[in-house]
Amino acid sequence: MELSLDRLTKHYGSKIAVDQVNACLTPGVYGLLGANGAGKTTLMRMLCAIMESTSGEVLLDGKEVTSMGASYRDLLGYLPQDFGYYPNYTAEEFLHYIAALKGIPKGKARKKTKELLHTVGLDTVAKKKLKTFSGGMKQRIGIAQALLNNPKILILDEPTAGLDPKERVRFRNLLSDYADNKIVILSTHIVSDIEAIADEVFLMKKGRFIMHGSVPELTSKAEGKVWELTVPQKESRKWQEQAAVANLRHEEGQVILRIISDTKPAENAIPCEAVLEDLYLYYFGMEKENV
Ligand SMILES: Nc1ncnc2c1ncn2[C@@H]1O[C@H](COP(=O)(O)OP(=O)(O)O)[C@@H](O)[C@H]1O
Ligand SMILES: [Mg+2]
Repeated sequence: MELSLDRLTKHYGSKIAVDQVNACLTPGVYGLLGANGAGKTTLMRMLCAIMESTSGEVLLDGKEVTSMGASYRDLLGYLPQDFGYYPNYTAEEFLHYIAALKGIPKGKARKKTKELLHTVGLDTVAKKKLKTFSGGMKQRIGIAQALLNNPKILILDEPTAGLDPKERVRFRNLLSDYADNKIVILSTHIVSDIEAIADEVFLMKKGRFIMHGSVPELTSKAEGKVWELTVPQKESRKWQEQAAVANLRHEEGQVILRIISDTKPAENAIPCEAVLEDLYLYYFGMEKENV
C-alpha cells in the first residue's frame, strides 16, 4: 500500500493553504506538525478526498483517490478537527449511527461498537448522552468512530486536543496497537504528542513541508544549537526579548534559560542535548502565528 501526494496544492481565493506538497507514504505512523494556519486540516481533507485540490493529486497505489469513490472511503477512517457531535445520542447510539452511514451491517456494527467503547475506555458510559461528556471523552468517541470500519488508512486531525495526560497515554498505546500494517496520519501543533508516536514527522509551515524525518533525525538537526544559560533575575527579561528562549526556570534567585541559537549566546552558556521541540522552535522561531 502506497499513498502518494503529488504536488498537492490548495488555494482559497488568493490564499495558498497547501503549496505543492510531495510525499510518499507506506504503512507507518506519520505526524504532521505545524502551527495553527500551516495547512494541516486542508491537507488532510484532500487526503480524505472530501476536498478537491486546486492542482496536484493524491494517489493510492497509483490511482487517483477522488476517482475511487466508495472503494477509497471503505479503506479510510477520519477524525475531522471540527468533529460534529449529536448531543442527544448516547455513545452507543452514536457509534451505531456512524456505522450505518458507513454501510456496516447491524450485527457487525454492534460487536464493533462494544469492542471500540472498551478500547477507548468508554464502556461504562455507553448509555450516557454525548452532551454529558467532557472534551476528552468526546474526543475519544471521535477516535472510536474513525476506527469503526477497521480502516487501512487512518487520518486524525488534532486527535489529542482536549485529552488529559492519562488519556494521551491511552491514545498512544491504542495507536501503536492499531497501526501495524496501516497508514496512520495525525496532525498536531503539540510537539510532545508526536514525539512518542510518529515514525516520521513532517514539519509543515505556510502550506509546505519544510522538513521531514524520524524524530532522532530531526532532533539531530538542532544539535549544537541548544544552550543553557544562567543569568541574574533582573537580566532574564532582556534575554527573553533578544533570544529564542525555549524554556526557563528559577533557581535560588537566578534564572536558567534554555536558548536556541546557532552560536554560543554568552561566554558562560553550556551546550545541551536537543529535543524535537528545540528544532521546532529553531525553524518556526518564536513567532506566535505562522499564517
Ligand atoms: N474555507 C477557507 N477559506 C479561506 N481560507 C481558509 C479556509 N480554510 C482554511 N483557510 C486558511 O488556509 C490556511 C490553512 O488553514 P488550515 O488548513 O485550517 O491550517 P491548520 O489546520 O494547520 O491550522 C489558513 O491561513 C486558513 O486561514
Ligand atoms: Mg487544523
